[in-house]
This record gives sequence, C-alpha cells and structure tokens, in this order.
Amino acid sequence: MSRATSEERFGRTAQNYLDSPAHKQTDRLAALAQRVGQKGGIVADVGTGAGHSAVAFAELADKVLAVDPTQEMLDIVKANSPANVEPVKGHAEQLPIEDNSVDGVTTRLAAHHFEDIDKFLAESARVLKPGGWFLINDIIGPEDVETCEQVNHVEAVRDPSHRWCHPGSWWLTHISDAGFHVEWVEFNSKRLDLEDWLQRQEVSPEVFDEVVNTVMTSTGRLRSHFQPLNTQPKLFHLLEMTLLARLD
Ligand SMILES: C[S@@+](CC[C@H](N)C(=O)[O-])C[C@H]1O[C@@H](n2cnc3c(N)ncnc32)[C@H](O)[C@@H]1O
Repeated sequence: MSRATSEERFGRTAQNYLDSPAHKQTDRLAALAQRVGQKGGIVADVGTGAGHSAVAFAELADKVLAVDPTQEMLDIVKANSPANVEPVKGHAEQLPIEDNSVDGVTTRLAAHHFEDIDKFLAESARVLKPGGWFLINDIIGPEDVETCEQVNHVEAVRDPSHRWCHPGSWWLTHISDAGFHVEWVEFNSKRLDLEDWLQRQEVSPEVFDEVVNTVMTSTGRLRSHFQPLNTQPKLFHLLEMTLLARLD
C-alpha cells in the first residue's frame, strides 16, 4: 500500500484517534513512561498519531519530537499538546532527526503501518545517543505462519494501509540484528470492541459486515487468537507486545 494511501486514510480519520479510548489510555501511558525512567533529554515518538504517547513522555523529557507523515495528525498534536512537544513531519524509514541526538525512541500502535521496519530500526539506532533506549508497543501476529497471514488479511481488509503484524520472535531477532539488546518484553492478549475498531477507520458497510463475520465465525487457531465474544458490544482480542531495548 502506498504512502499516499496511509496518509489519506489517517488524514480522514485523525480526529477519531484523538478521541479513541483504546488510544488515550492516559494512566497506562504515564505508567509506561515512568517505567522507562527518562528524566529530561529528548525523546522521539514515531508514528505519533494524535500524540497520546508524546504527551505522556512530555511530562518527563525536556522535549518530545512527535514524528508522523500525516499532516492532519500533526495539526491535532499541535493543538492538544504541551509546548515541549514538537510536531515533526516525516517517515519512520527516514527520520528527519540528526545522528546521535535523542535519548529515547518510542513507537506505539504504529509499526504495523511502516513500510520497512528494518529501516526504521536502523534509523532509530542512528538517531539515538550511545546507550539510548527504544520502546515499542504494537499489535503483533501469532507465531503460526498460516494464522499470522489470516490475521494480517483481516487487518488489511479493515485498513488497506496496514502493512504487517510480525510475530514476537521476528521482532526479537530484528531488534537484536539492529544493534539493540532487549531489557524486557511483555505479551498480552488485548480485548477490543470490534465495532468501535471498525468504525474508527470509517469502513464501508460491506467491509464492516465482512470483518465482523470473519472474526465472529472464525474457527481453529484463528478463533483461539481472536477469542470472539458475541456480547453487546461484540468483543475480540489482538496480541500486543511491549518491549524495551537499549543500544549496545
Ligand atoms: C494508529 S496511528 C498511531 C497511534 C499513536 N501512536 C497512539 O499511540 O495513539 C498510526 C500512525 O502511524 C502513522 N504512519 C503510517 N505510516 C508511517 C510511517 N511510514 N512512518 C511514520 N508514521 C507512519 C500514521 O500517519 C498514523 O498517524
């Protein structure tokens, strides 16, 4: 999917991400930022969206560079963030940030949209000072290859700018290949409101029905992954990874 499509989709739905309870999670983000322990310095939040993570880190850092290619997201960040959050237009694969200049790089619920994650990891290593930290929180795929493809297919039907949710083992290998060592990693199955998830991307009625049907009637390993609940509202699960690594 082209960059233009990603920016067009997120440009159209930007306000939905500012208001989304699944993205706000103010207390959880504050706790995560505290756990990283940054005091002062510069943090880059890549794929910042409406800036929820950037705002959490702005409590602790001197400055947060909130990086995103979608202008509508950056406008929302500018209007809703403290003065030490600086909106920066750019892509994860080519960060408009100087070498050895930031103390931490964070990315949340965005990496599955990046065209080239290895380039993003290399860019993160380039902009970090020696010993700098890298924090990622994102949806990931299951380890089983076939189920992983099925999950990614559902994600791409919902949002054609979706690139790929890699499994946890892929991330551990690629982060280490980029010169980081992992300090801690956590996996959890995250419960989501299925209809809210679809409406946030303003999908067509046809896509809405197709995804609801695929998730709710899934069988075997796909059902074990989604764990659909035919409640009101309909619920399902996605696998999430939170990982802190440091530059060797
Ligand atoms: C779901 S939103 C981000 C959510 C946000 N980080 C949060 O925690 O609330 C995904 C964001 O990734 C951005 N994005 C897509 N492709 C990107 C790329 N190649 N580099 C950086 N950001 C990208 C989109 O513009 C969008 O704002």
